Amino acid sequence: MTATVVVGAQWGDEGKAKIIDHLADHADVIVRYQGGCNAGHTVVHEGQTYKFHLIPSGVLYADKTCVIGSGTVILPTVFAEELKTLQAHGISDAGLKVSQRAHLTLPFHLDIDKAKEAARGDKSIGTTLRGIGPTMEDKVGRAGLRVGDLFADEAWLRDRVAHLADMKNPVLTKVYNLPAIEPEALFETCLDYRRLFQPYVCDTEALLAEALRQGQHLLMEGAQGSMLDLDHGTYPYVTSSNPVSGGACAGGGVPPTALARIIGVTKAYTTRVGGGPYPTELFDEAGRHLADVGHEFGTTTGRARRCGWFDAVALRYAAQVNGFTELALTKLDVLSGLQKVALCTAYRHKTSGERVVQFPAQIGMLDVLEPVLEWFEGWPEDISGCRSVDELPEAARRFVSALSQHCGVPVGIISVGQDRRATICAVPAIGSQNQLSGLTSS
Ligand code: IMP
Repeated sequence: MTATVVVGAQWGDEGKAKIIDHLADHADVIVRYQGGCNAGHTVVHEGQTYKFHLIPSGVLYADKTCVIGSGTVILPTVFAEELKTLQAHGISDAGLKVSQRAHLTLPFHLDIDKAKEAARGDKSIGTTLRGIGPTMEDKVGRAGLRVGDLFADEAWLRDRVAHLADMKNPVLTKVYNLPAIEPEALFETCLDYRRLFQPYVCDTEALLAEALRQGQHLLMEGAQGSMLDLDHGTYPYVTSSNPVSGGACAGGGVPPTALARIIGVTKAYTTRVGGGPYPTELFDEAGRHLADVGHEFGTTTGRARRCGWFDAVALRYAAQVNGFTELALTKLDVLSGLQKVALCTAYRHKTSGERVVQFPAQIGMLDVLEPVLEWFEGWPEDISGCRSVDELPEAARRFVSALSQHCGVPVGIISVGQDRRATICAVPAIGSQNQLSGLTSS
């Protein structure tokens, strides 16, 4: 019984969808385990570009089961829109399953997200305004509504909704100056949601346990990234869930013993969208090159992403927390054309000069640290046609090798372009051995 976890190793937007798409051929079940429609993944399939936020991109494969797991939060309107997209393109949703334990983002969660961001002023987190934080607050506060609740006896559901309104209305009206929940209207909305989810809802834990028992491969699809993890990221500039590999067990409902391969997806540089500290951020020509050539705009919000050099301090920390068995290095092609490229290998205290190699827990520390950069010759060649490590320019090979060494993790997959085929792969099948580990010792 095996599961592969694909985890964002940075601040999200690492190109996980392409890696998922690449590995999906060899998986039987694809599972979203956390986050919600704050995520955005773009997949090009048979010449058509699809943008999904909630539904796993594996739905494009007719023979896969796609699970939206218990750890996710679901905004029903976005779920409905994505179903429409599938229908419009004649794509079957027969394999799509939704956990009865997943929490629902309700209309007032969106309003609260907006109100809280406004109240934070210049300390705003820069959330995606998809109601993620407020939904998770209600989950942790044991007030939330779950998909399975929609299928309960109507009297029970009506009572549950009325209780929710009693709990939330003083906060909505007195703290946020927002309209109160109308219990009967929300109850009717819930009945609409019931019809929406009816074909898909199931006991996904039981389904996944059975899949594992039958020897099927699970592909666990993380959203956001390790540095946005609620517990391990740059708190409070984080999302309200656990993108790290442990989250795959908690949010997918699969046992840790099932995890065989943990792939950390990382760009060959870094990006971040929204607020929060970012030690290697660039404000110069190189930063503009990364933004322009890398098309660094968010799939969900369209916001420009902040760009900077690869941060091996943050990556080593992510590797510690996740237990990466390998890295999937994306967007190496974006570095082409830069005369020099850099890796941040450590931080240095701006006044004392002290060297810091462990990512600090307290983000205030990051204000007094600066990156220690190791520089490499760039390469002018377009590498998007390279299909093996040997075809990469020597300078690019040296950069990848150093990156791997500084992170202490072998590189198993290198993406050199948007195209599905623009992938250098040492691991053609889930569960096979990483043959690129030689890169770490070159
Ligand atoms: P939230 O998840 O919408 O609450 O946003 C919290 C933080 O996570 C903000 O800085 C967002 O920009 C960031 N974030 C959320 N989802 C993503 C994502 O899919 N990619 C990159 N950043 C994200």
